Amino acid sequence: MTKIGEWVEVCTSDAIAPEEAMRFSQGERSFAIIRSLEGNFFAIDGHCSHEKVHLADGIVDGNIIECPKHFGTFDYRTGEARALPACVDLRRYEIKVDSNVVFIKI
Ligand code: FES
Repeated sequence: MTKIGEWVEVCTSDAIAPEEAMRFSQGERSFAIIRSLEGNFFAIDGHCSHEKVHLADGIVDGNIIECPKHFGTFDYRTGEARALPACVDLRRYEIKVDSNVVFIKI
């Protein structure tokens, strides 16, 4: 069982292309892991705060991820809701890359 605040391995760093998102689940929790155009990794809650739709199926553009259902947007660097109908911020999670392996702190 994963403890709160534990680093968990997600994938190798080449598993996510720039401006792409990947779904990652641990138990009943789900996250969206995003790689920016510059190659940096970010992690936010997987499900949109408007309805329970997974953001990993959305479009990454600049620093924004767009929900695939109603096109609400979030800044994936902070989790901040940026465009309606999304108006509740998402939680952001620490992420690190070590020896080409991506880890999330959950
Ligand atoms: S479900 Fe994401 S904006 Fe509606």
